[in-house]
Amino acid sequence: MFSPAWSLVCFALFFLMDHPSQLESTEITERTERNSSQEFTSSVSSIMSANENPLTSHVLDTAIGRPAVGVPVTLSKYENDQWRNISKQLTNSDGRVGNMISSEEFSSSRYKLTFETLSYYDSRGEKTFYPYIEVIFEIETPEEHFHVPILLSAYRFSTYRGS
Ligand SMILES: *[C@@H]1O[C@H](CO)[C@@H](O)[C@H](O)[C@H]1NC(C)=O
Ligand SMILES: *[C@@H]1O[C@H](CO)[C@@H](O)[C@H](O)[C@H]1NC(C)=O
Repeated sequence: MFSPAWSLVCFALFFLMDHPSQLESTEITERTERNSSQEFTSSVSSIMSANENPLTSHVLDTAIGRPAVGVPVTLSKYENDQWRNISKQLTNSDGRVGNMISSEEFSSSRYKLTFETLSYYDSRGEKTFYPYIEVIFEIETPEEHFHVPILLSAYRFSTYRGS
């Protein structure tokens, strides 16, 4: 009576209940709210496979309660006493960036995410106190997934380690 796709979704839900650290509760809500069960299934199966996308980020504009779209985000890695840029992307329509680094390159190291917030506020015709935000963090367990988001407003921001 259950199609294979639904069985996979049910299995995945039980998997996630057993492994709550694999996914933030907010992400579960956002993904479940989205209409595409196919997208939900594929996001779950990517979690269940290897650590393909070990580092993700998200920028939420808390002043408007919406994702900050089009924020340039650069990932850099600290190697041989200097920063090396690995990748640069714009946050997508959900305010997200992923696929910033391959699992091979994601070794134990110090990393930096630079969020070019001035560019975002300029595009909205607004001012910001923070032209850019740098978040520097240490990765000691590269086999895990790391989510490093920003809660943003023009005069205040915060970040945290999610998974
Ligand atoms: C969700 O997707 C289904 C199947 O693709 C479609 O029939 C339905 O109208 C969609 N619902 C919304 C709210 O977009
Ligand atoms: C590395 O990225 C930062 C932040 O986007 C940028 O300011 C810098 O110019 C880049 N460095 C190189 C060598 O491209």
